[in-house]
Amino acid sequence: MKNNIVLIGFMGVGKGSVARAIISQSDMIALDTDDVIESMQNMTIKKIFAQKGEPYFRTLEAKVGRWLESSVDNTLISTGGGFFKVDNLKEIGTVVLLHTSFETIYQRIIDHPNAKKKLKKRPLFQDIEKAKALYDERAPQYSAIADIVVEVGGKDYDTIAKEILEKVKKQG
Ligand code: S3P
Repeated sequence: MKNNIVLIGFMGVGKGSVARAIISQSDMIALDTDDVIESMQNMTIKKIFAQKGEPYFRTLEAKVGRWLESSVDNTLISTGGGFFKVDNLKEIGTVVLLHTSFETIYQRIIDHPNAKKKLKKRPLFQDIEKAKALYDERAPQYSAIADIVVEVGGKDYDTIAKEILEKVKKQG
């Protein structure tokens, strides 16, 4: 098993913020699959969806998945909300699901000082009903693939990070 931690979970659950808390508590280097894709294409995720479509974006995720498996180790990898569907996810590292209710996620987004920007950059969070349906569809799939599940509701990022590092250590 590779020495990476792979954070998965729904849009807005806090993967980026938790990743920053983990790197401040460990010597891991962090990498985000959406950031890798944006630099590969020199385009924002929003533009990739608008100009090339979601299926094309998913092929880029698969490409990043293969690269992570072949070339990356001892890294904290945060992922886009749909990245967990790449077919080699479990080969990349220990898969940690950040879980909470849809209501908590939505509240977290709209409470953020940059709420508008946070919503605007996410093509699959433009319509709240559709986002909720996607959450309901994915929730059991996330749980099925995760090695570790962490409930994030009501906890601060440092507490979540500590919990993840302890659980991963126990598994190793
Ligand atoms: C997506 C989530 C996004 C981004 C893209 C698609 C998804 O990442 O990868 O818009 O399918 O859930 P975040 O989870 O960081 O918002």
